[in-house]
Amino acid sequence: MDSIPVINKNATAQTDFLPLEGTDYVEFYVGNAKQAAHYYRSVLGFQPHAYAGPETGQKDKVSYVVKQQKMQFVFTTPLKTDHPISEHIHRHGDGIKVLALRVQDATKAWEDTTARGGKSYQEPHSLKDDNGEVIISGIHTYGEVVHIFVERKNYHGAFMPGYREWKTPHYSNTETGLLYVDHCVGNVGWNQMNPWVKFYEEVMGFRNILTFDDNDISTEYSALMSKVMSNGNGYVKFPINEPAEGKKKSQVEEYLEFYNGEGVQHVAMATHDIVHTVTELRSRGMEFLQVPSSYYDDLFERVGAIEEDLEPLKELGILVDRDEEGYLLQLFSKPVEDRPTLFFEIIQRKGAKSFGKGNFKALFEAIEREQGLRGNL
Ligand code: FE2
Repeated sequence: MDSIPVINKNATAQTDFLPLEGTDYVEFYVGNAKQAAHYYRSVLGFQPHAYAGPETGQKDKVSYVVKQQKMQFVFTTPLKTDHPISEHIHRHGDGIKVLALRVQDATKAWEDTTARGGKSYQEPHSLKDDNGEVIISGIHTYGEVVHIFVERKNYHGAFMPGYREWKTPHYSNTETGLLYVDHCVGNVGWNQMNPWVKFYEEVMGFRNILTFDDNDISTEYSALMSKVMSNGNGYVKFPINEPAEGKKKSQVEEYLEFYNGEGVQHVAMATHDIVHTVTELRSRGMEFLQVPSSYYDDLFERVGAIEEDLEPLKELGILVDRDEEGYLLQLFSKPVEDRPTLFFEIIQRKGAKSFGKGNFKALFEAIEREQGLRGNL
């Protein structure tokens, strides 16, 4: 399969009215934040960072913040059945609610995006304590997902006002080499990809940098379409997937059915040493999709010379793809909850700025085998 990405030639540089400094945090609504936070610590190597709950004056929910290099993940659980977050969990199971973006000016980010048609989630407001000030605001995106704009003045405390430092003196673990969020992918409904592409273009000033149609992303049985949206400086990338017609059910349809709507399909986390990271994650219990060993038979013919030894890649099931600018190594986890919804990608970029198109077929066949085992194909 041709692995040269389709660069959108119409994407032109424009004034970046919404300058983003990257992903500030990702917040998950989960049934049991205490246990979820422990999984991300013990398996993925995140470190305890901050806590908010009844002991800090937040009576109706608890949040644990874990951190690894530039990534902050927040796990939140409501304490009462009639809490709105309980309804979110009832509808979706565990999933991502917030993709928070770091900005210089959260008030202007909210004003500009809502003036361009974005639906407000939270008006700009200041959070203060003895450690300083954070200003946040937010808008809705696909499904029930929201973008929170985070303006960190000179905040010196743990995470945000309202949180206290979270320490666990009797348990520690090591990081796994995960560095930052590379991209976050959304699954949207039938014929909803282009409206959401338009949203990111018009409301947030993103541009469409890559397009995959159902000829690029199809196996014998199922298909999907995808457009990659990027902000001006390229720090924030949101591919948007929608299902396409195939002989059998698309993986995006399976997601929409089990998540009961649109939502975040996967978060890609970058590493500088994927062999080390995946070795660690696997030994700590993370489960990954496996491609057939025949994938490696003609690897060098497909991607040319690479710096890594073949054997560890083959042993760990790491995939390789090349574009005009370099190559990348990647691997996808199985869903990290019982519903076949959210999963993670581990990615190491060696020049390549694309998303592994050359691996789509092998990858989606691996996903279909799992779908088949679940009886959802
Ligand atoms: Fe990805």
